[in-house]
Amino acid sequence: MPNSDNGRISADQLTLVEQASLASGATLWETKPVERVGLRAIRFSDGPHGVRRQGSRDEYVGSGRSEPATCFPPAVALGSSWDPALLQRMGVALGREARHLNVQVLLGPGINIKRSPLCGRNFEYLSEDPHLSGRLGAALIDGVQSQGVGTSLKHFAVNNQETDRQRVSADVDERTLREIYLAAFEYAVTQAQPWTVMSSYNRINGTYSAENRWLLTEILREEWGFEGLVVSDWGGVDNRVAALRAGLDIEMPTMGGSTDALLLRAVEEGNLAPELLEAMAERVLALIERAAAAPAVSAPDLAAHHQLAREIAGQCAVLLKNDGVLPLAGDASVAVVGELACTPRIQGAGSSQVTPAFLDSPLDEMRAVSGQEIPFAAGYSLDGGPPDPELEAAAVSLARAAEITVVFLGLPAPEESEGYDRTHIDLPANQLSLLAAVAATGTRVVVVLANGGLVKLSDWDHQAHAILESWLLGQAVGGAIADLLFGVVNPSGKLAETIPIRLEDTPSYLNFPGEQAHVRYGEGVFVGYRHHDAVGGAVSYPFGHGLSYTTFDYQDLGLTVRGRGETLAVAVTARLTNTGTRSGREVVQAYVSAPSRAVRRPPRELRGFRKVELAPGESTTVELVLPWRDLAYYDVALHRWSVDSGAVTIALGASSRDLRLTGQVTVVGTEVAPKITVDSTLAEWAAHPAGRNVLEREMQPPADSGESAARFLSEASLKTVGSFPLSRLARFPGAHLDAARLEEFAEEVNAS
Ligand code: BGC
Repeated sequence: MPNSDNGRISADQLTLVEQASLASGATLWETKPVERVGLRAIRFSDGPHGVRRQGSRDEYVGSGRSEPATCFPPAVALGSSWDPALLQRMGVALGREARHLNVQVLLGPGINIKRSPLCGRNFEYLSEDPHLSGRLGAALIDGVQSQGVGTSLKHFAVNNQETDRQRVSADVDERTLREIYLAAFEYAVTQAQPWTVMSSYNRINGTYSAENRWLLTEILREEWGFEGLVVSDWGGVDNRVAALRAGLDIEMPTMGGSTDALLLRAVEEGNLAPELLEAMAERVLALIERAAAAPAVSAPDLAAHHQLAREIAGQCAVLLKNDGVLPLAGDASVAVVGELACTPRIQGAGSSQVTPAFLDSPLDEMRAVSGQEIPFAAGYSLDGGPPDPELEAAAVSLARAAEITVVFLGLPAPEESEGYDRTHIDLPANQLSLLAAVAATGTRVVVVLANGGLVKLSDWDHQAHAILESWLLGQAVGGAIADLLFGVVNPSGKLAETIPIRLEDTPSYLNFPGEQAHVRYGEGVFVGYRHHDAVGGAVSYPFGHGLSYTTFDYQDLGLTVRGRGETLAVAVTARLTNTGTRSGREVVQAYVSAPSRAVRRPPRELRGFRKVELAPGESTTVELVLPWRDLAYYDVALHRWSVDSGAVTIALGASSRDLRLTGQVTVVGTEVAPKITVDSTLAEWAAHPAGRNVLEREMQPPADSGESAARFLSEASLKTVGSFPLSRLARFPGAHLDAARLEEFAEEVNAS
């Protein structure tokens, strides 16, 4: 597919009309060709956990119909794998399938932060933590793009809810944006260079993402060095000319050419610089050229991809609780109840829905793995109706006869979807009624959960001897769950989000989903565990938690500081030993506490992790290097990342609340002094070493007044009058400062 006989087509070979034609799609999924110069079109396709290639007769949004493709575990499960290498491998397989289906850009991954469990699309996102989201997102991008297929990192940015998503303004302070909502994007863009980034539908502090020059140009391109193309979310452009000016390249899907015409008119009328149109066309051409370098490939081995999907799924499910009932022996007396064992939920609804190439049911696979004809009863229906006494009675009689009953519970499909948010986090009443009835028989209860957004466990946790949170595991869900329950695979998933006791305990509870077209991110940086740890609140299961069938021991913490300021790095080492009797994988997690005088910081933040596989008795040394940015906060006064000098605590653990080794280091930070102005407060002048000197020299009360500069600058005085801007304080005769010379003093301080 050469673009032209002599290779690369550049934008200056195109007429203005042709350039403008590249600014939007030709169809729901394709860009526009320019036949005159031999430029072909390329195809975008959802994404993210499988290729949703729609046929020519199914070209409408929201259609469930698409070519069969491997439905890998969705992001909610992948987040719990804590394994970038695994996501990389999945990306390679996705890239292969995309190429075979003639898809040039896969619309994913989605790495928005899970701000509230109520977000209807949380199943498409990885974590409440930006460090984890960024690493996993980058790995998936690497994998897909290694196959010559592009990705679209989405939804940029601050799209953390579905309610009013086409219009709502996410009102967020800059530090919170930088530290929480942009941080994962920053990592993925700088480390993996996705071919495209997709702007989100919503506004940020009043400006649509698609029209936000600060976001799309200043941050994305100028600060982070993004080299790719920005595509709109589907139908997510309000003002096309403003969007182009802000840095949005392609508007998708087709607008029938109407918005291309707006761009042309704006150029003709002098309202849009032609260079901007040309730069957009250049980026579209570059994307098409990149895509053209990867010709279609033969059909991938879908059976092998199904095996890979099973392997990945096996590493995503999280064993929340286990009194020893798991793993099940092959000949254990087991019954299975719950419709979800037969009719599994494998993914969420909306644009990410893939037509799976194969589909396993947990019940069939449990029978296959154990070699037993395990009895089954549905127990409830998935239509969300009231408890059904007949269904329940049949399940209870099976449970009564079984030593162990595996109860499949979860969210019926309509409870969560793209396009709307949830209103509660409870399991359906008919399922809870079944669980209580089964538990009352005295059978040992193993609950297997299937849900994209988290569910409340605190009401019924005590009824279960073990709980396996499987999230949504994709098409190989059945085999993966059977492997985990029977111990063929040792669970190694860890929670990528906190499971709260009650919805009311979650930090965004009072500010979600907002009102009157605004949602205020009032909790600031205190999202997820950052909040629960700051308020010392109890949770059902903490961030990072997940059990194994073996045990791990952490020893010999080593902390070594290298460099200072922006060359600072802390090397963290520890010895990890598998002290149990089975092979298993542990996720070693590094949490940093770096208090600051300038801002209030979370008590601890995830800044490193490593998933390690060890045979029984085996040990290894794990090393994590935390560069300076891992200790930094975003300083809005200085417009930069800052590290304060002083003590930093680093803890290694098996979860955010199971910290096994803790140590302290002293670091020399970035030490950029804030700029002093005449309007800086007395306290700010006094805190600045040169500022204090100048004040001590210049505040000269008459000798007989009994006053002294030292008294003004004493702790007690600063406590009461320290908040006065110096310019205002100097007007008081009692300040004994020459108001006319304040500018000169400020210059002296800043020059020191
Ligand atoms: C979604 C995107 C998706 C696009 C195309 C939008 O509604 O927000 O995630 O990629 O549709 O289907």
